Amino acid sequence: MKKNIVAGNWKMNTTLEEGKALATSICELIINKPLSAISGNPEVIFFPPFTHLTEIVKIAKKVKGVYVGAQNCYSTDKGAYTGEVSATMLKSIGATHVLVGHSERRQYFKEDDQALAAKVSQAIDNSLIPVFCCGELLPERKSEQHFNVVKQQIVKSLFWMDEADFKKVVIAYEPVWAIGTGETASPQQAQEMHEFIRNLINEKYGMEIANSISILYGGSCNAQNAKELFKQTDVDGGLIGGASLKSSDFFQIICSF
Ligand code: PGA
Repeated sequence: MKKNIVAGNWKMNTTLEEGKALATSICELIINKPLSAISGNPEVIFFPPFTHLTEIVKIAKKVKGVYVGAQNCYSTDKGAYTGEVSATMLKSIGATHVLVGHSERRQYFKEDDQALAAKVSQAIDNSLIPVFCCGELLPERKSEQHFNVVKQQIVKSLFWMDEADFKKVVIAYEPVWAIGTGETASPQQAQEMHEFIRNLINEKYGMEIANSISILYGGSCNAQNAKELFKQTDVDGGLIGGASLKSSDFFQIICSF
């Protein structure tokens, strides 16, 4: 069974104290209204900056259904790579998930499909769940290349995996033109792409696995539009940027299934 998931990508925001306060406030809301009592019984994942992970893990550990992941990891497990952080290190501090291939990593840090495949592999080898991000640029959508772009991203970085490992992956579809712009994909555009992704998985791994993979939508998803998006058959939750930084908004999104 695919899970509903609401994940907060904090990006490079919050000091440690602010991050702790944010996580604590969301966790308090969840303690008052447990995830199991919320429609859709969603899982929640925080993706804080690296510097906050250990402290946020301590806060989240006390609340059932709340997990903590990193926004990135490196493509090998150790060595002379100054400034990088490995999946092994993330696992050792209690992280359970890692974002791979966020469009900001692809765009500003030139991470390509091959490097992302290696990061996915590192995550799996260290029992971390990779949340793999894919999505097209605006010109690619305008020229109707969006399906092809997303297909290539998924095929190149994920479809090398065997069934047993692929089953562990979460996918986030994030059209780049919708990230941080206030311009959300319409529920129909999101559904259409999510269905396309599920069909791709079906062709490669079969229906049972296709129906077990959570596919999240990301890109200006907020407390106002989450319900319409999450209502779509193949939208299993959201990867939330801006709106994950305000506890009341984020909690409202959690309650949008
Ligand atoms: P946004 O970011 O919700 O601020 O558009 C989403 C993301 O980048 O994951």
